[in-house]
Amino acid sequence: MTEVSEPKNQASDLEQAKKEVERLTEELNEHAHRYYVLDAPIISDAEYDRMHRKLEELELLFPSLARPDSPTQRVGGPPLDHFEKVKHRLPMLSLANAMNKEELIEFDKRLKRQLDLPENEILEYIVEPKIDGIAISLTYEEGTFMVGATRGDGVNGEDITSNLRTLETIPLSLRKGERPIPPIFEVRGEAYMPKDGFEAFNRKLLDNGDKPFANPRNATAGSLKQLDPKNTAKRPLAAFIYAPGYMEGVEFATHWDFLQSLREWGFSIPAFNQKCQGAEEVLLRYDEILDKRNTLNYEIDGMVVKLNDYALQEKVGAISKSPRWAIAFKFPPQQETTKILDIDVQVGRTGKLTPVAHLEPVLVGGVTVSRATLHNQDEIDKKDVRIGDTVLIQRAGDVIPEVVMSIKEKRPEGAVPFLLPEACPVCGGETERVKDEADTYCTSIDCPAKIKAALQHFVSRKAMNIDGLGKKLIEQLVDAEIVKHIPDLYTITDDDWRSLERMGEKSIVNLKNSLDKSKDTTLARFLFGLGIRHVGERTAQILASEFRSLDALYEATTFELEAINDIGPIVAYSVHHFFSQEKNKAVLQALLDLGLNPAPPQSIEDNEDLAGREFFDGKTCVLTGTLTEMTRDQAKQQILMRGGKVSGSVSKKTDFLIAGAAAGSKLAKAESLGVTVLTEAQFQEMLKGNQLSL
Ligand code: IVH
Repeated sequence: MTEVSEPKNQASDLEQAKKEVERLTEELNEHAHRYYVLDAPIISDAEYDRMHRKLEELELLFPSLARPDSPTQRVGGPPLDHFEKVKHRLPMLSLANAMNKEELIEFDKRLKRQLDLPENEILEYIVEPKIDGIAISLTYEEGTFMVGATRGDGVNGEDITSNLRTLETIPLSLRKGERPIPPIFEVRGEAYMPKDGFEAFNRKLLDNGDKPFANPRNATAGSLKQLDPKNTAKRPLAAFIYAPGYMEGVEFATHWDFLQSLREWGFSIPAFNQKCQGAEEVLLRYDEILDKRNTLNYEIDGMVVKLNDYALQEKVGAISKSPRWAIAFKFPPQQETTKILDIDVQVGRTGKLTPVAHLEPVLVGGVTVSRATLHNQDEIDKKDVRIGDTVLIQRAGDVIPEVVMSIKEKRPEGAVPFLLPEACPVCGGETERVKDEADTYCTSIDCPAKIKAALQHFVSRKAMNIDGLGKKLIEQLVDAEIVKHIPDLYTITDDDWRSLERMGEKSIVNLKNSLDKSKDTTLARFLFGLGIRHVGERTAQILASEFRSLDALYEATTFELEAINDIGPIVAYSVHHFFSQEKNKAVLQALLDLGLNPAPPQSIEDNEDLAGREFFDGKTCVLTGTLTEMTRDQAKQQILMRGGKVSGSVSKKTDFLIAGAAAGSKLAKAESLGVTVLTEAQFQEMLKGNQLSL
């Protein structure tokens, strides 16, 4: 036996382990790239797992040797308690849409006009599939993945680095390519859930008794929002990269060059990207992609057409939130045929009866659809839809699938026209179809379906925001007759709570706290929560700022209501009708007696002393371009608080145009009309009350 002194032995062990860790990290990354990105593995899964385990063991023995790009880093780091905000170094823009071939041709013509090129010039485009996922930004410093973020509002996103690290298609370090690796390299792309992974994942949720996701896009969004990256690591997510972000030390002449470098550096890019000469070739390509759409393992909702030459891109620039050099060419909604097994009638918050078709399950663009809305009796009559019919259904994005038409040739014998019931299917009360409206309503005030839906709406996030009071609990409260009207929510006793299934003392305390907290709310939230027909979030805000109290709303005539901008006769009638009914007044009074305190919004008079008021009071402003210090909405609020108005378009009457980065046609128009243009910095100064020499 040779005698070797201990320290030396340890040192050489460490040396050897280091080499081994490096070799395994690099080989595993190479194999993962081949497997996940290129879809061309050269070793078996078992072999890969063996190597992975070996690396895990070594890293456990010598933690200091673990490299930041080790594949073991993908299992998910420690959980977070919130996501940090990240400011994008360049705003993340979105795209303008072309809905049909004519609009695409117009896009091509417009570019030539903007570039002063003759009409018969052929521009070179890159055509890419439009991935229906969630936009992300990835930043690499000296080739190492440092920050991954969501798009957010385009200016600020959320830092989801630890979650994005778990996606095998995102390289943790850039591979070597022909070009040297840039010191700072930010790219943009789309995280998505492949269709097969989505189906398997939803099946698992169903097996566990959990609610499945409606589509791969929602599943992706939900997975990226996990505070514990270990949860994200379990979801089958992937990412495609398609656009440059902020970069230093590298330049690309064309988008095609950029895409080639992406490929070399190890990113996943769609196999469908293609160069096209002129609009005509783009249109041919559109038909091809549309044909292949259902064979792809990821959802696409159109294609994106981009000018290839980066110098030309720069020349045409961007307008407000989207570049002029690219356009999204949307696909028509996805359609399929299937059979109607039954028609069920649901009763909503307002008592509206909605017929819903139960379908033989069918895959529409990767999502199983088994129900579709039939809207109302008019729609059923117009489309002549009957139980047993074979129908064409369609889904577009997140909207509820709908029945487009019934295929009469396939109608079974004896199928009869469908009529909404005369009695409410939930409470047996009378139903009524309001004159000149297509919808039918249950008229009874204590219909449990109406009450449940009304309560759900009242407690929802954008209304009273009562935490912990979910759908199941509301159903139990109504079924046990503990809650019959909204005010009853605030008088539930401890014994009432305890009588419900699986209700612990801690939950009771939490619920009581949430209910108590909700009493201090805004008038706008309160009005929205009441579920007045046709009063959505925005209308509620308008009513709150115009009337400022419930008393004023009781007094308001339809004439006064209609005089308000953005309030039409239907809304005015509905609001007036709501506030003139004694039973509603009683409910509102009961809520106030229970201590609810809906506060009116800050009024302009309250802001008499606000800095910079003198510059904006009575002035009309237009916002354009991308602001960096605040969102457009915040800027608008600041102007409104100072007594100013914000308009969408520039005219002779405009006092100020506030122009953020990449301002386009509005800026040109303001200049031609001699309207005062403020930069964002000047605007900020005026908000602080500083006089500028304009
Ligand atoms: S380019 C400045 N390319 O579609 C250009 N976007 O409304 C930035 N998207 O927010 C976008 N596939 O989330 C681009 N091949 C593609 C895309 C794509 C999907 C998404 C992206 C963007 C939205 C546009």
